[in-house]
Amino acid sequence: MHFQSLNLLALAISSVSATLSPNLPGMNLVWQETFVGEQGDMVDLTQWTVVTDLHNNQELETYTQSDSNMQLSGGQTLQLVPQQAETGEWTSSRIESIQSWTPAPGKTMQVQAALRGGSSPLDTKQGMWPAFWMLGDSMRHGTPWPLCGELDIFEQINGQLTGYGTAHCDHTGGGACNEPSGLGQSIPIPQDDDFHTWALKINRSSNNWQTETIEWYLDGVLFHTLVGAQFGDEGLWATLAHSPMYIILNLAVGGTWPGDPNEATLPGWGNMFEVQYVAVYSS
Ligand SMILES: *[C@@H]1O[C@H](CO)[C@@H](O)[C@H](O)[C@H]1NC(C)=O
Repeated sequence: MHFQSLNLLALAISSVSATLSPNLPGMNLVWQETFVGEQGDMVDLTQWTVVTDLHNNQELETYTQSDSNMQLSGGQTLQLVPQQAETGEWTSSRIESIQSWTPAPGKTMQVQAALRGGSSPLDTKQGMWPAFWMLGDSMRHGTPWPLCGELDIFEQINGQLTGYGTAHCDHTGGGACNEPSGLGQSIPIPQDDDFHTWALKINRSSNNWQTETIEWYLDGVLFHTLVGAQFGDEGLWATLAHSPMYIILNLAVGGTWPGDPNEATLPGWGNMFEVQYVAVYSS
């Protein structure tokens, strides 16, 4: 009964309005995903790959295609939901865009999403690690990480009200991106249940790689900038700012950065990672 009324509510919301990506002044929409569908539906498999056979960063979760781990909400959002079996094993989900997008010479490319977490209290979120990020398409063709380039637009650990934006590149054990840390900055996340906009801008309008920039924004507020010149090498900068990249949304559980969940960590919707839209723009 309770579930039925939730269903009806979700349907009512989705029939009223589609949450489209916003119009940005001076930018053209290149691609968007607005997660249209009914509650429990799978993401659009012409646009996304659901990744299941992956273990990174000593994460505990197994990624599945189950609708208990990932579903369209019916209210024009995607929900990635952690679950825990009675044996203690965690499951979750991860999707990767099939397409990649390349910042064009002389243009600015912006990749943006509206994101929020579930409403469980902070002390139930140990081990949760949602992320909205991109990897260089060269990774799909044999180039090793981190030389393929990685741009983390949003990461959060353990429900803390801090968002991180980071670039990874070059080689492990130092290099131009100071691996394994990467080149990152953080920003406080407002304490509310609203969606927030996380964006990455790759600005090539200067037509000079040394003055090109990569910028990170939360709700339009700039919080991290990288400039070509600081890499000292055009080829390396190109792996981040001139090369095709694909988009990833995932909810990891445990692993080297957040540490493992504890006995208070809750599975289910209270700890979901919810995505309202994802969009790519170009000037
Ligand atoms: C790109 O950077 C230039 C400065 O080099 C600036 O004037 C322009 O507004 C930026 N474009 C966008 C879309 O932010």
